[in-house]
Amino acid sequence: MGFDLPGLLAERGGEGYELQARYINPQMSRMLHTIGFDKVYERAEGSYLYDKDGQRYLDFLSGFGVFAVGRNHPVVRKALHDMLDADLASMVQFDCALLPGLLAERLVALAPGMDRALFCNSGTEAVEAALKFARCATGKARILYCDHAYHGLTVGSLSVNASGEFRSGFGPLLDDTRIPFGDLDALAAELRKGDVAALIVEPVQGKGVQVLPDGFLRSALALLHDHGALLICDEVQSGLGRTGRCFAYEYDDVEPDIVTVAKALSGGYAPVGATMAKDAIFGKVFSSMDRVVVHGSTFAANATSMAAGLASLAVIEDEQLVANSERTGDLLRQRLAELADRYEMLAEVRGRGLMIGLEFGKPRSMKLRAGWSMLQKARVGLFAQMVVVSLFQRHRILTQVAGDHMEVIKLLPPLTIGEAEVGQFVGAFTDVMDEAHRGSGLMWDFGRTLVKQAMTR
Ligand SMILES: Cc1ncc(COP(=O)(O)O)c(C=O)c1O
Repeated sequence: MGFDLPGLLAERGGEGYELQARYINPQMSRMLHTIGFDKVYERAEGSYLYDKDGQRYLDFLSGFGVFAVGRNHPVVRKALHDMLDADLASMVQFDCALLPGLLAERLVALAPGMDRALFCNSGTEAVEAALKFARCATGKARILYCDHAYHGLTVGSLSVNASGEFRSGFGPLLDDTRIPFGDLDALAAELRKGDVAALIVEPVQGKGVQVLPDGFLRSALALLHDHGALLICDEVQSGLGRTGRCFAYEYDDVEPDIVTVAKALSGGYAPVGATMAKDAIFGKVFSSMDRVVVHGSTFAANATSMAAGLASLAVIEDEQLVANSERTGDLLRQRLAELADRYEMLAEVRGRGLMIGLEFGKPRSMKLRAGWSMLQKARVGLFAQMVVVSLFQRHRILTQVAGDHMEVIKLLPPLTIGEAEVGQFVGAFTDVMDEAHRGSGLMWDFGRTLVKQAMTR
């Protein structure tokens, strides 16, 4: 009788994969079984996950960048307990609650050039608002986006998402236009057509972890403004310290017109996103009392998300996580870059702060070429997948491939990590690269399994 969460967890723990297969998305459980990621996690703390057998896993994925402050941070947890105990009047809708006001005040203070913030429930929703606001503020329709861009999966965001694999089957999408990442000439050519509302860009792209050329944002902003168009920086992944600055656009010393955030703002507890912009843009959207609810979302300013957001920002500041991201990110990148001389298949180490991409490339030696070609012929990206699986199986470190059809893995650890985790990762990665460069062994056996699967998919 009644609802008993601890009892439910104890009684049904371990059924997650079966339930997923039966009631949610069966391809998810199938994929996780295939790559051996089908663990049952029982608990998490800081940079580590623990499975039902008490085994510890180092989390260099952070829930796609959500756990910037680490998992189950005591300050965020306490804020949420306090929020529940306060029996707040959340989501009255016809009031101006305190917590959203405080969170907006805090966010715009952190984001150079931003005056206002409107909340939502996810990254893609923050992008949707940005696209609508840009259209409304400029009176133009077309949005420019970049090769390899990822801005979310709702229809507006998908229209500025460059990946065919995500778009496929969901068209027709909006009539937006893709330009090469970091290409000012292409931007200028599109702007000359006179119908562009904005360029949306990730200063560090999540897919493939590509960093914009220095000065691009500054030049792009000037060009866009010359043509009555706006610059939207999508900082859903790169924002709030991930790249060693509070916002990655700060590297170019610019003030964009619109900035989106989400992920890290949640503290890993409650979905939250925000679209920040200059005052004049909000003024165009909410131009009269008649338009007061012209954009919004029922749950947007709920007290749980607002409390999680405020507490997360406090932790980021108190623990100086932006500085730690820069310092520890530099150390990790430097230690990994040293390995590029030793391992012929490690082609490049790149990124900013604790957003790091490791790209693999064709080996020179005959011994390795056959294996590499076998994988490439079946599907580009299988070698990176082999590395991710080896890091997980042999060393219990969780990472991800940085996108489909590319030989890149991405590291997105919590911003709280230090030298110990850097050492743990570099040691494990060295071991995996050693095995990969032997050209035989369990890792390559698994590679052949992946090839078979790719052929029969
Ligand atoms: C840059 C960027 N924008 C938007 C999104 C979409 O966020 P969400 O998955 O919360 O909708 C993501 C998610 O990975 C992202 O990396």
